[in-house]
Amino acid sequence: MKQQIIMKLLTGMAGLSIALGAATAHATPESDRQALIKYYTQKYPNVKLEDYVYGALAFDPDSMAQYEAIMEFPPYMSEIEQGRKMWETPFKNGKTYADCLPNGGKQIAGNYPMFDEAQGKVVTLKNAINDCRTANGEAAYGYSDAKTMGLLTSYMRTLSDGMLMNVKVEGPKATAAYEDGKKTFFSRNGQLNFACASCHVQNAGSRLRSELISPVVGQTVHWPVFRGGERLTTLQDRYVGCFKQVRAVSPTPGSATMNNLEYFHSAMSNGLPMKASVFRK
Ligand code: HEC
Repeated sequence: MKQQIIMKLLTGMAGLSIALGAATAHATPESDRQALIKYYTQKYPNVKLEDYVYGALAFDPDSMAQYEAIMEFPPYMSEIEQGRKMWETPFKNGKTYADCLPNGGKQIAGNYPMFDEAQGKVVTLKNAINDCRTANGEAAYGYSDAKTMGLLTSYMRTLSDGMLMNVKVEGPKATAAYEDGKKTFFSRNGQLNFACASCHVQNAGSRLRSELISPVVGQTVHWPVFRGGERLTTLQDRYVGCFKQVRAVSPTPGSATMNNLEYFHSAMSNGLPMKASVFRK
């Protein structure tokens, strides 16, 4: 059975080079994004671009109906409420996150990750939150700690609902970071020798075992997710899970490799609206 799945995935590889035409010289983040959209819309002419924010749900009306019912009264509202309290509680010096982040922390999530020229590296929203904490004399949170960073961002990101993803890649250093993330996305890994793209480009909209696979476009706009309605999962934790699925050693959340991956990955959702937090299976 597993062999069959793998064969099916490998036969889809011809498509990769089409979408990857974008990976040749002179590709820009925008031309990469357009190439992916073209690839998906030719393959699935009935799925609207704006529905890619729903991920795999966009390919399955029954799961979509279940999602909509759950989202009417999300089972994780008390977690979001805890996040709101964390957001509003001042630091020991009396300052708040709103004092420290651009625009009071509102309508900014779609600008992240961003390339910080001064630091010479990609800064994710979580890095910006931790920078804010340390600048105000507080200890940084664990990058993927669900009980602190996770809860805080589950509320904080709602302040950017409706903002369009707007990741910018400008200048040679930012471009190098973007290219590094893109390389991670398209490189084969692990004992099963899959790339992220093997599943989320060629096999988006297909089933792997019982699960429908989401397209890369739209994957970054709705984090963190509450899996099964209760397990708070951040975006880079999801990357870890996917690396493990192909029996690869995962890079550490918050590392340059992961942040560059998130940078590339997020640019592929440019123009789509943010919405935190959502239910996922
Ligand atoms: C063997 C196939 C496979 C590979 C390879 C794979 N994934 Fe996944 N991924 C899945 C499945 C299955 C799911 C759950 C269904 C879905 O939402 O796509 C998933 C879910 C996700 C999600 C959550 C989507 C959402 O809306 O909740 C993200 C983000 C993601 N993968 C990113 C990656 C990245 C980045 C890589 C490479 C490091 C990767 N995946 C590699 C199969 C794979």
